[in-house]
Amino acid sequence: MGLKIEELKMGNFNLNEPVVLYDDGEHRVAWVGSSENSLFRCNAYLVSSGNVNVLIDPGGIQHFDQVKERVSQLINPEKVNYIVSHHQDPDVAGSIPMWLEINPNLTIVTTPRTKVLLPYYGFDAQKVKWIDVSQLDDTMIELPDGGVLLFLSSPFLHFPDAFVTYDSRAKLLFSGDIFAAIQQKWELIVSNWERHKTEMMYFHVYYMASNKALRFFVNKVRPFPIDAIVPQHGSIIPGEYVDRALDFLENLKCGVDLLYEESPVQSILNDII
Ligand SMILES: [Fe+2]
Ligand SMILES: [Fe+2]
Repeated sequence: MGLKIEELKMGNFNLNEPVVLYDDGEHRVAWVGSSENSLFRCNAYLVSSGNVNVLIDPGGIQHFDQVKERVSQLINPEKVNYIVSHHQDPDVAGSIPMWLEINPNLTIVTTPRTKVLLPYYGFDAQKVKWIDVSQLDDTMIELPDGGVLLFLSSPFLHFPDAFVTYDSRAKLLFSGDIFAAIQQKWELIVSNWERHKTEMMYFHVYYMASNKALRFFVNKVRPFPIDAIVPQHGSIIPGEYVDRALDFLENLKCGVDLLYEESPVQSILNDII
């Protein structure tokens, strides 16, 4: 059994170091995020299998030193050969030019509409290798251990061309901003679902487009075996809460559902007609 979440729930880790979430000898997943003290705390993850090292949502410019330090404790940072950028926000992708300086040959995995925007952080798109993530949900990286990282589109959650990553070996869903939470007190692993649900709600009602988009996404990922959800903000959702987290998003009104719940135009018309 490679999943370490149960051990980590005991508080058995040091956040000044990378935290290994899964390791079966051939495939390792580690949290390599930042220790910034903010409501919006950012997580980055490193997936390693043989000579393949995939850095997921590397973070902003101010996260770079810490993320690089944590990566260095596991591998030579020059060996990061893929960066997955689930969308283009500065807290997700601002440090990409710094990673390209370390390894100009790395490949960026992202969607076509994100690819248009990422070079504005200051690098030449023509000099970079890319994997374009298709909305058909058939793009993947095949890993030396026999597993795959499968990229699944998540339209309008929150970027129109956002996507998530499913790790078939570790059975982890790297969900980007989906399942993120805004927290006064951050913890690595969710310990109290009722509290966490509220913290997730704070994030989703503002950032996610609509319940229609959430339902579409939840229906897509529900058939996958998921041992934990690992988002870019907030805490890791362990297996025992995965179904409840899916149910919660499936039924959550957010974004335009709330903004246009009662059309102001209709009420004005009612007043004047
Ligand atoms: Fe975002
Ligand atoms: Fe984010």
